[in-house]
Amino acid sequence: MMKLDSMESDINSLTQTLGISRPEAIREIKILFGYANNLDPVELIKEPDVMRDPIKLKKYRRIFNDRLTGKPVAYILGCKEFYGLCFNVNEYTLIPRPDTELLVDLAIEKIQQHNLKKVLELGTGSGSIAISIATHLPNIQITATDISSNALEVALRNAMNLCPNHTIEFKKSDWFSEISGVFDLIVSNPPYIAKDDAYLTGDGVIYEPSIALTSGLSGLDALTLIVNQSKSFLVEDGWLLLEHGYDQRDSCRHLLSAAGFTSLFDESDLGGNPRVSGGKIRTDK
Ligand SMILES: C[S@@+](CC[C@H](N)C(=O)[O-])C[C@H]1O[C@@H](n2cnc3c(N)ncnc32)[C@H](O)[C@@H]1O
Repeated sequence: MMKLDSMESDINSLTQTLGISRPEAIREIKILFGYANNLDPVELIKEPDVMRDPIKLKKYRRIFNDRLTGKPVAYILGCKEFYGLCFNVNEYTLIPRPDTELLVDLAIEKIQQHNLKKVLELGTGSGSIAISIATHLPNIQITATDISSNALEVALRNAMNLCPNHTIEFKKSDWFSEISGVFDLIVSNPPYIAKDDAYLTGDGVIYEPSIALTSGLSGLDALTLIVNQSKSFLVEDGWLLLEHGYDQRDSCRHLLSAAGFTSLFDESDLGGNPRVSGGKIRTDK
């Protein structure tokens, strides 16, 4: 028999090996404990605190050891909660971050404010942004792209599970290479981390696909390309919304302004860091 409150040594192993905080270690152990008990992913946190079944105990020990090697909990479970939905994830998809919910909030706000109908998401990964928008606004037309066929497979599966009545068009494309037509809104959380950024050595990040994380020496390559090419794929008065790093607001503003965007704005995450920038394309293009 194993009791959750007698797992001090597991808590210490996680805090010491992975450098995570004690509350985080306890939270993760509860999730792994619940998962080993075959609980539904959404219910994981309400796990029973006693485990008697030796098979489940063995499963817990195996997944705990996976976590101890640094593998993120989301990859062990195969899913991650985002915008109130449970997304399948695997080693080909970035694990959706809570920070990105700000981008979804702002996209939904813009769509509603300006009655936008046609949306393009670039770099969809698990599909978290496109699908979150689609579940809230079922009547808009969304195209979601990625360069990774493996990621698109996951996104398609998530769309079938989470918004079966919405037909998001998933397309393999190197940014705009396979895109035709124009859109009312382009939204993207592209890779934007600088090549040598210490973040890349942080807990679990090494397990994530590098094409989802880094983009050139300064991290600005994809953002620059997207800003510069969006103009050709937006209707008059169309909007571009981009997630970026906490220290990339000024670079993004400069890029947007130089590319002819107006009504520029940025929004900060809960920590007060500017993380989303955007603007409207000038009508005199
Ligand atoms: C930061 S991740 C965002 C994933 C997802 N949208 C999210 O917010 O969780 C960036 C995504 O861009 C994709 N990507 C990288 N290079 C690309 C390219 N040249 N063309 C299209 N997508 C690309 C990656 O495969 C990855 O899925």
